[in-house]
Amino acid sequence: MKRLVDSEKRDDMDVFDQTIRPQNLDEYVGQEELKDNISVFIKACKMRNESLDHVLLYGPPGLGKTTMAHIIANEMGANIRTATGPSIEKSGDLAAILSTLEEGDVLFIDEIHRIPRYIEEILYPAMEDFVLDIVIANGDGTSRNLRIDLPPFTLVGATTRAGDISAPLRDRFGIVAKLNYYNEDELYKIVKRTSKVLNMPIEDGAAKELARRSRRTPRLANRLFKRVRDFALVFDSPTIDEEIMNVSLKRLNVDNYGLDRMDTEYLEALITKFNGGPVGAGTIATSIGEEVTTIEDVVEPYLLQEGFIKRTPRGRVACEKAYKHLNIEFEQNK
Ligand SMILES: Nc1ncnc2c1ncn2[C@@H]1O[C@H](COP(=O)(O)OP(=O)(O)OP(=O)(O)O)[C@@H](O)[C@H]1O
Ligand SMILES: [Mg+2]
Repeated sequence: MKRLVDSEKRDDMDVFDQTIRPQNLDEYVGQEELKDNISVFIKACKMRNESLDHVLLYGPPGLGKTTMAHIIANEMGANIRTATGPSIEKSGDLAAILSTLEEGDVLFIDEIHRIPRYIEEILYPAMEDFVLDIVIANGDGTSRNLRIDLPPFTLVGATTRAGDISAPLRDRFGIVAKLNYYNEDELYKIVKRTSKVLNMPIEDGAAKELARRSRRTPRLANRLFKRVRDFALVFDSPTIDEEIMNVSLKRLNVDNYGLDRMDTEYLEALITKFNGGPVGAGTIATSIGEEVTTIEDVVEPYLLQEGFIKRTPRGRVACEKAYKHLNIEFEQNK
């Protein structure tokens, strides 16, 4: 089974996702500091009748960056325009997007770290002074510069790789926020909310179990909820109880800790093939047949956060917790 977090990455148009995605700050669970700050900034902008400063959201997949971008637009009462880094291949692509913006619009660029550096430079004056500098070819081999004024707008950028964003781009965001993994209480609230929105009751114990085994990630909690709902339907159960939850999670290869098959394969490879490390992420990725970016962006952040592995200058090292989890004897000071 392909990892749920990863396979659902580009699901903006998914109907299920649209239904359960929170629409405003009150519905958005957790990330309290970010919510508090954003609501103050939005209020201040409305009082000054200005557009919101540019916002950069970064953090692992499925923690609510896209959701927050839409909420910001909603709360500002603004229209949102969306684009992704990989879809901007030529400077003309970006110029076309910028030149059609209207006053107060939110421009959401997902995976913003993937805009090529020379195209990214177009964003600097656009973000700073709301102008678009374009070079027009005269046809005789010469060219001239043209400067177009843009209406004030808010750029919201999202990325799973803050480290890949160039310093000049990063510096032009007035608000930079990291999204953190959720705790079990927050995930419990998200599961309960999803159950209500989808009109599929879930018992408290089952909701807690799902919250505990969702890799601290709302997207995964919702995806698992969706699958468990299928099991409940087929087993003819009007509510999701703990028994259905446990059977379903087992069938979905979600282990007791919420680790799925890819996490487990990663840890097994690190411990059994590479003697617990240190070993580079690329080597582990190759050995389990995955892309190194998937390993670095999707698998490792959670394993690091939960203390299964650590990063050292010489590569990844498995911690005692990983050995215990896989029932492999841990030798100190290898
Ligand atoms: N704070 C939250 N409260 C409730 N639901 C949330 C929250 N954050 C995310 N979700 C749910 O999780 C799903 C995934 O969130 P979202 O698509 O915003 O993640 P993302 O950070 O943009 O991920 P990616 O990096 O893969 O693009 C959403 O559809 C939404 O339903
Ligand atoms: Mg997203």
